[in-house]
Amino acid sequence: MAEEKEAALEERERYVQDLFRRVAPTYDFLNRLLSFRRDVAWRRYTARQAGLRPGDSVLDVATGTGDLAFELAAVVGPSGRVVGLDFTEEMLALARRKADKLGLGGVCRFVQGNALHLPFADGEFDAATIAFGLRNVVDRDRCLLEMRRVVRPGGRVLVLEFSRPVWPVFREVYLIYFRYILPLIGRLVQGDADTYRYLPETVLAFPDQEALAARMHELGLRNVRYHNLTGGICCLHIGEV
Ligand SMILES: C[S@@+](CC[C@H](N)C(=O)[O-])C[C@H]1O[C@@H](n2cnc3c(N)ncnc32)[C@H](O)[C@@H]1O
Repeated sequence: MAEEKEAALEERERYVQDLFRRVAPTYDFLNRLLSFRRDVAWRRYTARQAGLRPGDSVLDVATGTGDLAFELAAVVGPSGRVVGLDFTEEMLALARRKADKLGLGGVCRFVQGNALHLPFADGEFDAATIAFGLRNVVDRDRCLLEMRRVVRPGGRVLVLEFSRPVWPVFREVYLIYFRYILPLIGRLVQGDADTYRYLPETVLAFPDQEALAARMHELGLRNVRYHNLTGGICCLHIGEV
């Protein structure tokens, strides 16, 4: 039974990795388009809430094409260290190229690895972030525990993720956009119906603001709080180690 469960999780991981492999070339373009560029502001806000100072060291889990890592680099400055980890090499290749273009190659390092087995020592970082990644990992608890493990006592674990809009009318309009229009645009640009069905499916299955905060607390994070962004389309959860 345990072996069957393990095999199903591995298959799911391969599916997710394959999906991001295919999406990589259009990922940034579609992010900006589908979010009306709000994604840039959401990541910038996250970086500023990480409690980091110049010279600090931070891990960005499921970094993808590195956009949050670059915002974190602006906070820790040239004497700081940002490590971006992802298991999809095609996404990392784009992150490395962008880092070179931005002149951030010295601060940001991108490594291939699995969020469920972080290849770092206990307490190695001042903070750990994950943006639009927790929804994609096959074991959320394990990912959060790993993030907690690699952050020093007093440091922060931050989760930026799609959530549940809180403004009534806006919520209905958003749900129509999210369920029907967004997959259509995704299909037209990406030419692949599967990929942009995956987004609404995983978002709607993800815990809401209160449930995620409670889980983070149960997993040992302290002083857990959250900030709704753009009416709760996105939410930033912060916990302390
Ligand atoms: C929606 S993208 C988010 C990328 C980026 N953080 C951003 O803000 O745009 C999700 C990323 O999670 C990565 N991912 C999913 N499961 C993972 C795992 N178990 N370990 C490492 N990366 C994973 C995927 O490869 C993909 O790049």
